[in-house]
Amino acid sequence: MNIGIIGAGEMGRCLASGLVKLGHKVSIANSREPASLADVALSTGATAVSLNEVIKDKQVVIISIPLKSVPDLPKNLFKNMFGDLVVIDTANYYPSLRDGILPELEETGIDSLWVQQQLNVPIVKTFNSILATSIQNLGRPKGDADRIAIAISSDDANAKRITSKLVDELGFDPVDLGNIAQSWKQQPGSPIYCRDITLKELYKRIENMSNDWSEMREVILTKRKANEVLMKADYPAYLQSLKDNL
Ligand SMILES: NC(=O)c1ccc[n+]([C@@H]2O[C@H](COP(=O)([O-])OP(=O)(O)OC[C@H]3O[C@@H](n4cnc5c(N)ncnc54)[C@H](OP(=O)(O)O)[C@@H]3O)[C@@H](O)[C@H]2O)c1
Repeated sequence: MNIGIIGAGEMGRCLASGLVKLGHKVSIANSREPASLADVALSTGATAVSLNEVIKDKQVVIISIPLKSVPDLPKNLFKNMFGDLVVIDTANYYPSLRDGILPELEETGIDSLWVQQQLNVPIVKTFNSILATSIQNLGRPKGDADRIAIAISSDDANAKRITSKLVDELGFDPVDLGNIAQSWKQQPGSPIYCRDITLKELYKRIENMSNDWSEMREVILTKRKANEVLMKADYPAYLQSLKDNL
């Protein structure tokens, strides 16, 4: 497929490199001139392009930038897009660590709902609940007993199908969690967030969660806040807490 990636940080580079290895044609852009991505192009095999070019003739576009930067993307970015362009977003909301308080987001507390409203196109939320290092190192063939599952949420069934195929090709079991309004199940603070768990374990944890955001909101947002404190104080300890399932 022809795939565009917006954002050339840890996650953007990791996805670019993995997708190029699978044989996809990948373009990558950041907020600056393509020349600033010469090293990224060399190391990933993706083509460095401008933001205007990164959407052109693509079947899939992956947005992998800090959540607070989403409103800075050009307002008409998706104006001339094909009707069936798949727009994937990987962002997470970390107000005290990186993004600052975003009052409109705080109203619902659902990160991806806010992103979708900002972009004004249907999005697929995935690759947000797994670390880039896990994508890079822990992919396994289909059927492997230890294969990690990756959560996907979207209001667009066809976009979810195409995204699931990419997740599977990268070596992970795709799991459809439902629509964007339910994507809180995979956002920071959730018991499935960045835990590198199998399909079976992921389903078990989802079944143990209420389907009702009003019941889960306090639990998930409190956990995210605690994790932000730990990430700031001691990042290796935070990574260990994910492994220990705390
Ligand atoms: N890293 C992970 O393991 C991981 C895991 C799950 C989810 N995520 C999420 O994925 C997103 C990206 O994470 P990251 O770790 O890759 O971040 P990062 O290393 O900080 O990289 C951010 C990238 O976004 C680009 N960017 C920022 N604003 C932009 C704009 N307005 N237009 C175009 N490009 C822009 C930056 O380009 P410039 O240098 O030009 O500003 C940079 O290339 C975040 O929302 C994060 O929460 C990351």
